[in-house]
Amino acid sequence: MRYLPFAAAFAIAASAAGGATAQDTVKIGLVIPMTGGSAAVGREISDAAKLYMAQHGDTVAGKKIQLIVRDDASVPDNAKRLSQELIVNDKVSFLGAGLTPSAMSMAPIATEGKVATIVVVSGTSIVTEKSPYYVRTSFTLGQQSGIIADWAIKNGSKKAVSVLSDWAPGAEAGKVFEASFTKGGGQVLETLKVPLNNPDFAPFLQRAADLHPDTLFVFVPAGQAGTFARQFAERGLDKSGIKLIGPGDITDDDDLPTTGDTLLGVVTAGIYSAAHPSQINKDYVAAYQKASGHRANFISVGGYDGMHLIYEALKKTNGNTDAEMVVGTMKGMKWESPRGPISIDPRTRDIVQNVYIRKVEKKDGAPWAIEFATFEAVKDPLKEASN
Ligand code: PHB
Repeated sequence: MRYLPFAAAFAIAASAAGGATAQDTVKIGLVIPMTGGSAAVGREISDAAKLYMAQHGDTVAGKKIQLIVRDDASVPDNAKRLSQELIVNDKVSFLGAGLTPSAMSMAPIATEGKVATIVVVSGTSIVTEKSPYYVRTSFTLGQQSGIIADWAIKNGSKKAVSVLSDWAPGAEAGKVFEASFTKGGGQVLETLKVPLNNPDFAPFLQRAADLHPDTLFVFVPAGQAGTFARQFAERGLDKSGIKLIGPGDITDDDDLPTTGDTLLGVVTAGIYSAAHPSQINKDYVAAYQKASGHRANFISVGGYDGMHLIYEALKKTNGNTDAEMVVGTMKGMKWESPRGPISIDPRTRDIVQNVYIRKVEKKDGAPWAIEFATFEAVKDPLKEASN
């Protein structure tokens, strides 16, 4: 079957899916990196999705829920092949898409196979426009980067250097930051792009310091904040007086416990902190720690809320998994996440969520991103601009 053209194979799979098991089981296929440089991201999504199922049971609207995790090792071609196999061979009713390049390559497969797909990691605006069956529970870099630019301007920043991981989410963080920062009268002296894989930040940090900015705007993806913090301290930049700011990724809760005093005082605009002071979040952080041995982070909530979205949609459709129908019920859905109140924008299928300004402080001997201001119900600014 795997050698047939996808459309033909899909038609056979669809006609064969009439047995009792196929009707009573709803399979969800997560295509995430479990190995390679972004393995932490896959672990966080998979741990959070499994935690959601452990807490809410594996039966919804009379259907047994089965989670299938496939490792794409962050390779877009793998993601495409795996999602095709999940649809044709495993007959999944839902897909979960991970990193931006993989989510981009899976989109035509989800569209052709008519499978509702939750974007659980990608933070790039355009991804949700690549398939009418894509719905996002993660975040966009734009949501956070414009807000931190405004905050920096208000707090006296005038000359910034941007240090960005060199791929789509980094470009987007830099673009939105620069637009808001210059609109507020600031100047971006230079934009430095750091290779995504095996990054060595040292030469870029040296170049940034040589430009004598008052502010450093940094985006590194989940899994790299620890390395970044170490090299930042090695260059003495934590004591240089240059303000370090960014979207929430540089204060990733998965890495923060390993960063000692290096990031104390760093201010970010982020969608989630493990220190978010709601009861729902306290319970989530405790349960996640117990189940996984790690501190819950901003990636994990994308997986947890992705499962919530699927469960609630199935309740509304009474177990029907038709993509048009489930995506239709997901549009406009609202709920209380560990990160705070969130909803799915019915126009864009993108997530609407609070963005918090947070400062890294020590609490009980460990660094945490402590929220001190809230921007409510923030949409993806790039989609709003093109509206
Ligand atoms: C992405 O895939 O777009 C992505 C991944 C990790 C991040 C941010 C963005 O921290």
